[in-house]
Amino acid sequence: MKKSAITQHESDVLIIGSGAAGLTCALQLSEHFSINVLCKSELTEGATYYAQGGIAAVLDNNDSTDSHVNDTLIAGAGLCNPESVRYTVENSKAAIDWLIEQGVSFSREKDDSGQTSYHLTREGGHSHRRIIHSKDATGKEVQTTLSSVIKRAKNIRLFEKYNAVDLITSHKIGLIGPKNRCLGAYALNRSSGEVEVFKAKSVVLATGGASKVYLYTSNPDVSSGDGIAMAWRSGCRVANMEFNQFHPTCLFHSKAHSFLITEALRGEGAVLKLPSGERFMPRFDERAELAPRDIVARAIDHEIKRLGIDCVYLDISHKDPEFVRSHFPTIYERLKKLDIDITKDPIPVVPAAHYTCGGVVVNNNAATDIGNLFAIGEVAFTGLHGANRMASNSLLECLVFARAAALQIIKDKEKPHPQVDIPDWDESQVSDSDEEVVVSHNWHELRHLMWNYVGIVRTTKRLERAHRRIQLLKQEVRDYYANFKVTSNLLELRNLITVAELIIECAQRRKESRGLHYTLDHKQTDPVTKDTIISKLD
Ligand code: FAD
Ligand code: SIN
Repeated sequence: MKKSAITQHESDVLIIGSGAAGLTCALQLSEHFSINVLCKSELTEGATYYAQGGIAAVLDNNDSTDSHVNDTLIAGAGLCNPESVRYTVENSKAAIDWLIEQGVSFSREKDDSGQTSYHLTREGGHSHRRIIHSKDATGKEVQTTLSSVIKRAKNIRLFEKYNAVDLITSHKIGLIGPKNRCLGAYALNRSSGEVEVFKAKSVVLATGGASKVYLYTSNPDVSSGDGIAMAWRSGCRVANMEFNQFHPTCLFHSKAHSFLITEALRGEGAVLKLPSGERFMPRFDERAELAPRDIVARAIDHEIKRLGIDCVYLDISHKDPEFVRSHFPTIYERLKKLDIDITKDPIPVVPAAHYTCGGVVVNNNAATDIGNLFAIGEVAFTGLHGANRMASNSLLECLVFARAAALQIIKDKEKPHPQVDIPDWDESQVSDSDEEVVVSHNWHELRHLMWNYVGIVRTTKRLERAHRRIQLLKQEVRDYYANFKVTSNLLELRNLITVAELIIECAQRRKESRGLHYTLDHKQTDPVTKDTIISKLD
């Protein structure tokens, strides 16, 4: 097969991902630089669009930075980086003000004196009402507003349906120097099937999380851990991948997979019940339904396994129907179509993989270990979430660290960026795949084995089994990748296998139970706290 001429794009900044993190960063930079933004699907498709509950921020006079910091540290089970937590919380009000300036509309309510102010809801782990929201579809409001602002912004080019394949670094192309630098990325144009080159002086990974590695997840298809896998392959350190957050309440229904039932329902009084009608959370934690997520998800998992039932029930039918309909219109309408009236009926729910607390190690400027490479949003490990993310802290993290990255990129403006020639993507040795079934089979197997062996409750034996199977899948996909043209499915599978291996590796290193990582073989929580930071050089 002959090598064909390849399309090369060039910009000051390349941002990979168009969720809350990517779009915020792009908008903060557009006055200063030319920017290319890539996304795998449509501009609006990502976890951000589906966020329901809201964004945590210190907005009420009775609330305080110390209180938000303290709640985050408690939910994080002793593993948060206090500096990152304080930095994030201190910047929370500015982040919300910026969203409002962009046109994001948050829910308001009238108080007793007739004054209108933003309605703040509550979620697990929060000791105050501090979640600003747009009814029960906050993410949709944020994503669609930022998407329409970005289409009007200057200096920004959007590339939809482009899968970043790999980062291009100075070391990878054979430029010897003490510090590895990022020079751009290769990306698959899904419309043409060709891999193109995107050169840039700064590259920002904003690719979201990796919950698609599990069979049952609240996440959309794009959440396949691509950024974590790309950064890892390029030599970045990755941390705390054992902490996968399972959201306690995803709808259990044969006709609606991945639909989340927001924690704000529990914040507004919904209770969890067994099929018998018994409320069970008070048996597990004095905070009952508003305990942090790891505790609620584990309690549900325990009850499901103990009783051999398919699901538990979330019940808000005791509240005023008008209140329920007006606060949760998306959930009300969606479930009504499935013949569940949430003002009368309990909602069948199960836990599902929801959030990746670990990720690419960054500092408070969102800078990774590789020069000119930044990571923001769910792909990054900032130290904010520790062993368990507190509800609604992640959109906040996207906004705060996107701005931090932008400030650093602006600061770096005068740094010299020597011109380098980037080699074209070489397809001379590969052909079209003859057996797509290998990809679909391995994808299925991977997500099953992660669910069964690396889920809410782990054991040493289950992790060993998972590790052995991952090695086989890795070898098969490596052979496949070397011989056939890349496709979106193959790229995602390859990345998910890398992510799965990182999760298992981190989980095997942690010989205790803490936050989201719970193992029957080490039930104790050690007095000494330590992040699991792994590097290819280990
Ligand atoms: P995303 O919004 O996931 O965007 C990722 C982007 O990267 C997409 O544009 C995607 O196309 C692109 N991408 C990925 N890989 C590639 C690639 N290889 N090449 C090119 N582009 C790529 N958090 C809260 O704080 N409050 C909530 O109420 C809340 N509710 C949630 C409800 C649901 C159902 C889910 C799934 C999550 C929720 N979360 C919530 C978590 C939060 O939504 C996410 O953590 C956050 O939106 C992540 O934003 P992001 O910008 O990092 O990534
Ligand atoms: C939810 O609305 O329950 C999700 C909130 C979050 O993941 O932070």
